[in-house]
Amino acid sequence: MNIYKNPLYYEIAFSFFDVKKQIDTFEEIISKFSKIRVNRFLDVACGPSLQLREIAERGYEAIGLDLVPEMLAYLSEKAEEEEGLKIQTVQADMSNFRIGKKVDFAFIMMGSLVVDSDDKFLSHLDSVAYSLRKGGLYFIQNKIVDWTGIKEQSWTMEREGIMVKTTFNARWKDLLNQTYTEELTLEVHDHGQTANLESREDLKLMFPQEFKTLVVLNGKFDFLGWWEGTESTWFLDKPLEKAKSPSNINMVLLRKK
Ligand SMILES: C[S@@+](CC[C@H](N)C(=O)[O-])C[C@H]1O[C@@H](n2cnc3c(N)ncnc32)[C@H](O)[C@@H]1O
Repeated sequence: MNIYKNPLYYEIAFSFFDVKKQIDTFEEIISKFSKIRVNRFLDVACGPSLQLREIAERGYEAIGLDLVPEMLAYLSEKAEEEEGLKIQTVQADMSNFRIGKKVDFAFIMMGSLVVDSDDKFLSHLDSVAYSLRKGGLYFIQNKIVDWTGIKEQSWTMEREGIMVKTTFNARWKDLLNQTYTEELTLEVHDHGQTANLESREDLKLMFPQEFKTLVVLNGKFDFLGWWEGTESTWFLDKPLEKAKSPSNINMVLLRKK
């Protein structure tokens, strides 16, 4: 079964951050680096997007883009029914999309910026650039910079009697083409019912300097920097260049030229 077709279980498994702190930091980053006023936000690969729900709650316009219709339906339902908020949704592939009315700030969370080739990454940058106003920021959370530190991780979350144990693993597949296989498993215990949800994907590891070079090659963004963080906030006084051991919990900032 595909994990992303089960948004509630995904949300329980991955809601280990403080969304208010995240959006506070977005506002701080915008005031420091954005060349335009921000009213309209785009979450790329949004999933259940607690972020867009908080952003809409603060009175901004919110748009979520995802490939999986179940995720978008869940996000709309949660926003409208539980919180009375309006969130626009777009079903599209992040490596090739267009948004009608441009946004002022785009973001992608939880290491979701992963593709299987450089061409797709360049096409992704084109898509974001097309959808973002000049001077607007593209915020990328958790870019893999420490490829030596990719190892199995496991954690358990519980909400309203539903327990989800998540296991993440990645194995090199093809060293010459820098591809690895990412495996994610959710073991769900939901009021007496159990389910094992799995997803497996072959992805390309883009090394840090390769990432920067591709941003330059694409030509549509300025690379403003990358910084250390936690899952909920990021530290502008801690650039990755100064980190003893750069972590995959980080943020990268690009600005549309
Ligand atoms: C790791 S989850 C992140 C979800 C959410 N942003 C978060 O922080 O919890 C990745 C999301 O990307 C979506 N996704 C996967 N491949 C995609 C693609 N090629 N284009 C757009 N969305 C994609 C999945 O449906 C899923 O909702």
